[in-house]
Amino acid sequence: MYTPSAERYQQMTYRRCGRSGVKLPILSLGLWHNFGDKTPFETQQAMLRTAFDHGIVHFDLANNYGPPYGEAERNFGKHMDADWRPHRDELFLSTKAGYDMWDGPYGDHGSRKYLIASIDQSLKRMHVDYVDVFYHHRPDPETPIEETMGALDQIVRSGKALYAGISNYGPEDTRRAVRELNRLGTPCLIHQPRYSMLDRHIENGLTEELRQSGTGCIVFQPLAGGLLTGKYLDGIPEDSRMARDNRFLKPDSLTEETLGKLRKLKKTADARGQKLHHLALQWVLRDEVVTSALIGASRPEQILDNLAILSAPPLTEEELREIDEALA
Ligand SMILES: NC(=O)c1ccc[n+]([C@@H]2O[C@H](COP(=O)([O-])OP(=O)(O)OC[C@H]3O[C@@H](n4cnc5c(N)ncnc54)[C@H](OP(=O)(O)O)[C@@H]3O)[C@@H](O)[C@H]2O)c1
Repeated sequence: MYTPSAERYQQMTYRRCGRSGVKLPILSLGLWHNFGDKTPFETQQAMLRTAFDHGIVHFDLANNYGPPYGEAERNFGKHMDADWRPHRDELFLSTKAGYDMWDGPYGDHGSRKYLIASIDQSLKRMHVDYVDVFYHHRPDPETPIEETMGALDQIVRSGKALYAGISNYGPEDTRRAVRELNRLGTPCLIHQPRYSMLDRHIENGLTEELRQSGTGCIVFQPLAGGLLTGKYLDGIPEDSRMARDNRFLKPDSLTEETLGKLRKLKKTADARGQKLHHLALQWVLRDEVVTSALIGASRPEQILDNLAILSAPPLTEEELREIDEALA
């Protein structure tokens, strides 16, 4: 039986999620990679336990995480049975629907039909009665936003999720979604966009939109899938994502331009006496409009290692300028 560390809440920093009652750890754990059929159950279990033992109480899933699709949720259901049922109220769980999940016209995009069928499937796979957040995973220009947000509202009202969220929405779609959810009486708790030193697109309007509407923000891929760890500076290590499973992190992303940026950033990290990936995590969290950085991991040691940011000195104005120059 798993007994969590008694010190699990002593080190972690928790930030308020927008203008809601919810606080999230500044590091959260995503189950996109390494919770499918290729990672041993014991490795998955060690990652979840290591996270929770250090105050990372938020685990993020989606219907199609695996591979195969659904497998991360199915595995999470096994972990729920093995470890987490007694601690359910200490956990903050999310899942999503919006990308392709099953064949035919009702297994993709943003219809009420898809979202409600999908949350029902997710709850069964995860062995839980409810999730804390249910996200629409990406905007669907062909479905009226009123229908998609109406489905999120219904999912919350039926108790299958406690809060509604959106992911990958641009500033204008976010404004419309937040307005519609407010009108329905189910405020948008949180937005989940991609954000890292190598992808700053949310700075062009989205962060201001979230600040003004009081919506929380959890940023995914803060390490650009591992690029920002610096592990690819001298080639592709055998035990890395790019070598193991490069469906989403392709060797051709290692351009001279990107490697040049990484080398400059590493100099700033070295001068601070820290690792490049710690600098990268601190950087996405430098503005409190970002509630949490949603990391992935392939082994428990990486989660432990990333906790170093909790005791690192804040970034100075000069360091921030240096980073901007490196990324220009
Ligand atoms: N909403 C969306 O559309 C969307 C899309 C993508 C992801 N997400 C969410 O974001 C989560 C994170 O995505 P991600 O895994 O791509 O994020 P990431 O944190 O940018 O990359 C994680 C990878 O970085 C490496 N890493 C992490 N910590 C390390 C350390 N201390 N030392 C060395 N390497 C380290 C590991 O790579 P190795 O495997 O090489 O060891 C790990 O698998 C997902 O699980 C999912 O929940 C959401």
